[in-house]
Amino acid sequence: MKTIIIFKSKTGFTEKYAEYLGQKLSCEVIENKSLKLADISDYDTIIYGGSLYASGILGLKKLIIRNFDSLENKKIIIFAVGATPGRKDELIEITSSNFTDEQMKKVNFLYTRGGFNYNKLNIFDKVLMLLLKLKIKLKRDKSNDEKGMLNAYNQSLDFVTINNKEKLYNNIIKIIKDDTSK
Ligand SMILES: Cc1cc2nc3c(=O)[nH]c(=O)nc-3n(C[C@H](O)[C@H](O)[C@H](O)COP(=O)(O)O)c2cc1C
Repeated sequence: MKTIIIFKSKTGFTEKYAEYLGQKLSCEVIENKSLKLADISDYDTIIYGGSLYASGILGLKKLIIRNFDSLENKKIIIFAVGATPGRKDELIEITSSNFTDEQMKKVNFLYTRGGFNYNKLNIFDKVLMLLLKLKIKLKRDKSNDEKGMLNAYNQSLDFVTINNKEKLYNNIIKIIKDDTSK
């Protein structure tokens, strides 16, 4: 079984998960810099990790979703990396934003927490996040998540711990070894 890990990351959190999985699974790890179907069609198992920006999984649409029918006979494992804790309602929002119900029947979807590093963002994302900061600041009643978010602008958050890396790896291994999985 030929396995490949593909990742797309803006500030490095998804890349750290991808590199860890690559070491543990002893397989190739490549960054999705305009990859095409031909670059991945030789593999039986495709593990795609992308970070979340406005609920979208980075780079997923162009490489995986557009080529979905051509990847039909492969095992596809997608892991999304975001700043939110990954509560049930958040996961529903992520899956419904990135996959149709039909696609969800065929992909194995996982979520893991990355972090937040304001200083590493590009100028466009910095402006978006400053607007969000202003919006939260102006709110009278802030939720705990919103308070945590405000703190994260001054002190970056990193949830790519050994525990979270192992958890992701174990979930992937379970999917790979399960013959009855998608
Ligand atoms: C403009 C912007 C939008 C974001 N949208 C989401 C989101 O919808 N859901 C989420 O969980 N995290 C969101 N995040 C947080 C990133 O997904 C998080 O920082 C992630 O760990 C980044 O991973 P990367 O360094 O691999 O790109 C957003 C961050 C920015 C800057």
